[in-house]
Order: sequence, then structure tokens, then C-alpha cells
Amino acid sequence: MTLQFHPLRETFGARVTGADLKSGIGAAEVEAIEQAIATYGVLVFGQQPIGDDEQQAFIQQFGPPVVTRLKEIASGHPHFYDISTVDDEGNPIPESSARGMYLLANLLWHTDGSQNQPPIRLTALHARVLPDNPPNTEYADMRAAWDALPASRQRELEGLQVQHSILWSREQIGMKASDFSEETLRERQPVVHPLVRLNARTGRKSLYLASHASHIIGRPLDEGRALVQELMAHATQPRFVYSHAWQRGELVMWDDSWTMHRATPYKGSQPRQMRWCGVRELEAV
Ligand code: OGA
Ligand code: MN
Repeated sequence: MTLQFHPLRETFGARVTGADLKSGIGAAEVEAIEQAIATYGVLVFGQQPIGDDEQQAFIQQFGPPVVTRLKEIASGHPHFYDISTVDDEGNPIPESSARGMYLLANLLWHTDGSQNQPPIRLTALHARVLPDNPPNTEYADMRAAWDALPASRQRELEGLQVQHSILWSREQIGMKASDFSEETLRERQPVVHPLVRLNARTGRKSLYLASHASHIIGRPLDEGRALVQELMAHATQPRFVYSHAWQRGELVMWDDSWTMHRATPYKGSQPRQMRWCGVRELEAV
């Protein structure tokens, strides 16, 4: 199998040709994909008619699978989330339900799993069912956003540590701590990650931000939140964003360590069903 990578934007996003994920890939393809994801951040694999088992066989070649814990979007498979706009009977999911709140939170710029330690490294999202006019998913390049900062600003930011918490991202869509069970609050303690990350493969630095990113350790809460919000706005300017228009059967894989993403609103009644799985970082970040 010879994989080819065709850039979507000059330095961000690539379409992969020559991949047949149904047959499975070998060590040479895994290495080519690791190199490409470090280079482009987002990879689009077209026309992959795969199910959970094949998606699982693919992703687990890249690291330990994420054990999915969010009950709202459980899929029945321990490593998959069901990101669907309809329930099992095909009825639209009400916005106010727990599942609806999850979909709402996906509209915020985020990286998957930054509220965990170790966080998620790679995500693979497969389009199983798409409506006629599917909503795009947008991706932001936090490496280009870092490179665009003046050197003096970079020096100020390096070494800062950021608190990430699912409570904070959910607060932004109107939820309160009292909306969570005690068990959930115990399980989802805030974690701390560096604001600036270094990619070992490329030697390039990037910002590391997310909707879960709340404030800066050791600084007043308001000041830290303002800085995080300012950097979020900087990193998500259109010049750093690739907007993906989905086609049925596509699998998009992205590097959560230096990209952010968000869903865009969808109000249609035709179902959109996506299958989510990911792999963790091997060590705390
Ligand atoms: C995700 C996600 C966005 C979308 O699955 O992690 O954020 O457009 N999805 O469904
Ligand atoms: Mn996501």
C-alpha cells in the first residue's frame, strides 16, 4: 500500500490517497501516517467503508485506546463514542438533554481529552451517515498560531501552566457544577498542562489550548482566564483554520496535541452519525 499525502492548506491538513483501512495497514503505513500527522495535523482518508472493528484495528496501531467514559454518548463499545444527532429510534436529540449538551459543547473550540491526564493524542472520526448538507468540522493550527507570535511574547508564555477542566467548558454552555453528580465531579478533577508544547518528531512548538482550558496556574483567576481567552481568539483566526466539508465514508484523523477543532451548527432533521475513537499520550503532559 503506497500512501500519498496531498496538502489541503499549505502547511495544514492533507488528503490521504492509497489507503484501504478495511484491509488494515502495516508498520510502514503507521510510520508514514505518524510522520504525516506530525507535519499536517489533520489527515482526511476518503471512502473508507469500515465498521467499529476495522476502525479499532486502525487506531490501536497508534497507541493505547481511549476508554470512553462519557455515558451521554456511549456507543456500546468501550473505545467508541457515538456522535449522533439522532437517538436509537431516529428521533432528533433534544438540545436540553445530556446528549444535546454534549453536542452543544462540541461547538466550542477544543482539543479532545485535554481535561484528562495523560490527554488524548490522536482522534479518528468516521462519517457513517451524513445528511444532504452536512455541517463542516473546523480545525485550528496552534503551531502556526504560535509561530505568528512575536518572540518577546513567546518568551512570556513559555513555561506557563494551564488548568483544564470539563466543568469549565460545560460552564461556557450554561451548565453548573450542581448539574453534575458527585461521582462525576470526583472523576473529573481538573488537570494541569503546559501552555506551550514541543512536538518531539518535528521539533516545532505550538500553543496547547481548548475549551477546557480555564486559567493560568499561579496567576489571579481573572487574569489567567483573560489570557487564555485572548490566545484562543488568536489561534482560531481564519488564517489558521481549515474547514472540512465531509463526504460519506470519510475518516478524519487529527493530532490533538497541536490542533483544536469544533463542530459547526446543524439544525436539519436528517441524521448525522459519526463514530469517534482516540488514543492517549503514553505519559503525563
Ligand atoms: C469530536 C468533535 C465535531 C463534529 O467528535 O470530537 O468534536 O463536527 N466533533 O462532530
Ligand atoms: Mn472533539
